[in-house]
Amino acid sequence: MLKIAIAGTGWFAEKHASLLAAREDAQVVAFLGSSLPKAEKIARQFAGAQAFDNIEQMLDTSKPDAVYISVPPLAHGEIEEAILERELPFLVEKPIGLEMAAVNRIQAKIASKDIITSVGYHIRYTDTVQRAKELLATRKVGMAVGSWLGDMPGVHWWRKQNGSGGQFVEQTTHIVDLVRYLVGEVEEVYAAYAQRHMHTVHDGVEVADVGAVTLKLAGGAIASITNTCMLPFGHRSGLELFTDKGVLEIQQNRCLINHEGAWKTEYKNLLNPYELETDAFLHALKTGDRSRILTDYADAAVTLRITLAALESSISGMPVKIG
Ligand SMILES: NC(=O)c1ccc[n+]([C@@H]2O[C@H](COP(=O)([O-])OP(=O)(O)OC[C@H]3O[C@@H](n4cnc5c(N)ncnc54)[C@H](O)[C@@H]3O)[C@@H](O)[C@H]2O)c1
Repeated sequence: MLKIAIAGTGWFAEKHASLLAAREDAQVVAFLGSSLPKAEKIARQFAGAQAFDNIEQMLDTSKPDAVYISVPPLAHGEIEEAILERELPFLVEKPIGLEMAAVNRIQAKIASKDIITSVGYHIRYTDTVQRAKELLATRKVGMAVGSWLGDMPGVHWWRKQNGSGGQFVEQTTHIVDLVRYLVGEVEEVYAAYAQRHMHTVHDGVEVADVGAVTLKLAGGAIASITNTCMLPFGHRSGLELFTDKGVLEIQQNRCLINHEGAWKTEYKNLLNPYELETDAFLHALKTGDRSRILTDYADAAVTLRITLAALESSISGMPVKIG
């Protein structure tokens, strides 16, 4: 039985804990909260789980085999450092931080100790994205057009620039990750952002609520990604790939539509990507075989670099090269 400790007490920490609790090979042994009452509240829902408000105490008392980290972007750093001091594997939610210097320090320790990591880019695990990858093996992509169009999450940290990093860093990162996974690496980023509405609705909104980002990819393809969080409801998110054989349309968590002239084939998502993500990580813990983990910390650091470069470009008005 693998003992898993979880840093975080929010809705996604609970989602991960429920996935783990449903398995026969894992047990949730501890929760870390920003306060003890928060940790105690969620720990009560999972038999045998203890509550902590200090990462060192959690790790030294509960002695987990691995840790899940599901905290807001601003809270990364100390948690990973404490886990790495004890050479424990971890699965961390995206985005993995807000500063490249801290992320690079953490990555250097992961590499030197050869620690198993996984990052929560769950869309890679959808069967439709895997199908798209197969179809793309015999196609040439000219252009990718992606979007994340919806409302603003209600949590306070999301509205602060140094809390979430803004929509492109926090949410649309999934689309940037898909572009990298399906089309190729990003070489240059240009972005225009604006605050159009949400700062007039809530106090203290610092993040942009509309954005348009252009990416130049290695090999010559280009990508255009737009996002907004000013709608009163979630509208859609996804990625269209324009290829020499037609259009592949990935609708996030729903389906893949393969448009080939008059032919249109629709593939539905049949499997739960979160279950597959957890399964891949636990399989790696049990066997040492990391091949089913589709994104690790080093890979997610590249995606973070691109989304932070978009923010930099939106401020400077200049394209930013990814080197
Ligand atoms: N992959 C996905 O589909 C997906 C979906 C939702 C959220 N997420 C990610 O999960 C992370 C958490 O999001 P959420 O929606 O659960 O947020 P949330 O606001 O519901 O919960 C965050 C929790 O972290 C706790 N926290 C804050 N600082 C902490 C610290 N230093 N130590 C321990 N706990 C701390 C807060 O008290 C809060 O309970 C974010 O990075 C988000 O992007 C991923």
